[in-house]
Amino acid sequence: MTDLERHIQDIRMAFSEEIAAAETLENLDSLRVRFLGKKGEVTSLLKGLGALPPDERPRAGQFVNLLRDELEEQIRTRKDSLEEKELERLEREDHIDVTLPPRGRTGGGFHPVVETSREIIEIMAGLGFSVALGPEIEDDFYNFEALNIPPSHPARDMQDSFYFPDGKVLRTHTSPVEVRAMRAHGAPIRIVVPGKVYRRDSDPTHSPMFHQLEGLMVDTDVSIADLKGCLGALMNAFFDRPLAARYRGSYFPFTEPSLELDIECIECSGKNPSCRICKGTGWLEVAGLGMTHPDVLRAGGIDPTRYTGFAWGMGLDRMAMLKYGLTDLRVLFEGNVPYLLSGRNRSC
Ligand code: DAH
Repeated sequence: MTDLERHIQDIRMAFSEEIAAAETLENLDSLRVRFLGKKGEVTSLLKGLGALPPDERPRAGQFVNLLRDELEEQIRTRKDSLEEKELERLEREDHIDVTLPPRGRTGGGFHPVVETSREIIEIMAGLGFSVALGPEIEDDFYNFEALNIPPSHPARDMQDSFYFPDGKVLRTHTSPVEVRAMRAHGAPIRIVVPGKVYRRDSDPTHSPMFHQLEGLMVDTDVSIADLKGCLGALMNAFFDRPLAARYRGSYFPFTEPSLELDIECIECSGKNPSCRICKGTGWLEVAGLGMTHPDVLRAGGIDPTRYTGFAWGMGLDRMAMLKYGLTDLRVLFEGNVPYLLSGRNRSC
């Protein structure tokens, strides 16, 4: 037996003793590094082959390569068996008995914003409105241009809206769906559009993502009286009692004239000068609205000399907070299930 063969034999024996003792994948890996790593014993042997006389090299090379293959094979086998053992252990220790009854809350419920949205949709369905939806990633055209929003409008500023590199924008309101729906269905049309909208706003009373509900009605002879009738009916039905309402003049590029709707404070009806909801004003701002601008009807493919329309937009989060007496907007987005369901634990 040559020196080399003896050396190989020693390595083989040392290796088989150590591999039998390797109880973890870490042990096994350090073993692999020691024998087969860059500075490992087998690797040094291979490197040393160059120092042998040329006629011994092929045979010696064969021996060392054989040794290397053999050790690698043993490591693989050992690794498989250790991994299998580890799986068995996990299965034993982390075993979940899916037949056990669940712990904790068993009933589900709708999120207040979802519940609010569903309720408003139901009320408006009674007035002949159906639901329309649109994309949250919107084209500049639908979000701004078609709605008569001029390039100088603050909503177009990067500071206020979230833009994508390709010029698309996370819709800043649900109004673009008005134009999409008019284009898709023409007139007459009555729709409500619930959905998520996005603005660069974040503080205790603003979230960068919030919910709106848009409404649009277009027909022959639609007037402000119809608008007031619909919204009055919606508010009274939603808050379950007749509420005083007032309409204030306002400005939106996509309506003319534009108004804002205030309803009587649902908490104090104007009787508490230190009311935390209306701050003593007696009124709550709930919607922006107006008669659809002729340019917007035109952008929707509708002839403004034949048809008129009205539209409104309202914050669903705010409506939910008012209805359910929530005080901090952020709770709506924090996933605190017990809090969100408290007092309203209706199952789905
Ligand atoms: N899009 C407006 C906003 O996000 C809300 C709004 C105002 C919608 C008046 C309307 C409207 O349809 O007529 O602030």
